[in-house]
Amino acid sequence: MDIQWICVVTIILTWFCTGSSIHQTSVDPPHNLQIIDPGLLGYLYIEWHPPSSLPVLDQCTIRYKLKYRSTGDADWKVVFTKKLKYGDGFDLSKTTEAKVQTLLEGRCTNASEIQSDWAHATFQVPSPGELESQIRDFHCVYYNWEQLTCTWQVGQRVPPGACYEFYYWYEGLECAVQCEDYIQTHGRNAGCHLRNLRQAEYLDFNVCVNGSSEATRLRPSYFTFRLQNLVKPSPPEKLSVSIAADKEVHVAWSPPGGGVPPNCLDYEVQLAEDDGYADATWVFASTQMETAFTFSQSNRSHVSCVRVRGKTNMFCADKGFWSEWTQECFYVSRKDEKQLFLLITVVLSSLSVFIILILAARCKKKSKKGGSGQCDE
Ligand SMILES: *[C@@H]1O[C@H](CO)[C@@H](O)[C@H](O)[C@H]1NC(C)=O
Ligand SMILES: *[C@@H]1O[C@H](CO)[C@@H](O)[C@H](O)[C@H]1NC(C)=O
Ligand SMILES: *[C@@H]1O[C@H](CO)[C@@H](O)[C@H](O)[C@H]1NC(C)=O
Repeated sequence: MDIQWICVVTIILTWFCTGSSIHQTSVDPPHNLQIIDPGLLGYLYIEWHPPSSLPVLDQCTIRYKLKYRSTGDADWKVVFTKKLKYGDGFDLSKTTEAKVQTLLEGRCTNASEIQSDWAHATFQVPSPGELESQIRDFHCVYYNWEQLTCTWQVGQRVPPGACYEFYYWYEGLECAVQCEDYIQTHGRNAGCHLRNLRQAEYLDFNVCVNGSSEATRLRPSYFTFRLQNLVKPSPPEKLSVSIAADKEVHVAWSPPGGGVPPNCLDYEVQLAEDDGYADATWVFASTQMETAFTFSQSNRSHVSCVRVRGKTNMFCADKGFWSEWTQECFYVSRKDEKQLFLLITVVLSSLSVFIILILAARCKKKSKKGGSGQCDE
């Protein structure tokens, strides 16, 4: 009786315990994963819905692990989020891939993390038109941190009546904007000038060059860059050169006026000396932000030239273009020239002394012979 009673209690307890500890061991993947192009020339949204069947979440958290990349990239970007939407910039000339899984963790899983299978999606922007109608040699320069100039060559085969258009977008603009100041060659748009882009600096700058012809559309091209990496500064200003007695050459200049923050520039200074025989060779030095430099010695020279140019530095940009050179040429008197001058002076003076001596000697002779003052003649 006692033993039976204990058995019944044990059975009930066992049932109760296992019943209360039904833990989740699996979870469904998110559904309806989509990659959405809002028309911002490279900025895409990745969206999904929660798993269709979710357990009653008893003190459990649900998160998503999102991975995405452009086809060809070696690495996936990984994001953990509780939201159902994520946006980032992509290269629209490539296919975009995304995958997402559900992560469940908490009391309902006995504190271990449960992962669902992956949901997958890909996206490719439609690319109408023939490949040969696509523009070539696209490049942009952000002149003096003030004006963006982009240029391109028209496609290899341009259909009749073809017209290219330039659109751009950066975070802060509601939608893609078309260029208002085109550069034209042979009556066709082949570039664009843009100003007042302060708000676009240090952000992804998305560009699309597309277009249409009488019969068909032109194959669009997509580009993404950052303005601060395309800066070509104006040349430095007020270059001045002075030469000290010990032949030190002091060079000083000012940063270019305009949009480039002065602390964003490094400089290259070069000194060339033309010895009259060989071609000038340039000795160079770099400075970080400083606007002066001293060459300790200048050699065997007639004419020397100093030139300086600037470029954005690593504190402000990843890369940039060199400015044009500012050049100043000047004359350095030569050491051996001074010696030659000295030699000629010595020779001339010795010669005069010699002549005076001879004259004096002749005069003495004559006065001895004649006795009277004929020396006056
Ligand atoms: C829950 O987790 C604890 C500690 O990790 C473990 O000892 C226990 O057996 C788990 N229970 C179940 C039902 O898996
Ligand atoms: C070019 O792209 C812009 C921006 O996405 C779009 O508004 C326009 O319709 C496109 N033009 C053509 C001819 O496809
Ligand atoms: C002068 O000549 C020395 C030795 O040939 C050389 O090291 C130095 O760079 C030269 N200086 C300049 C300014 O050309």
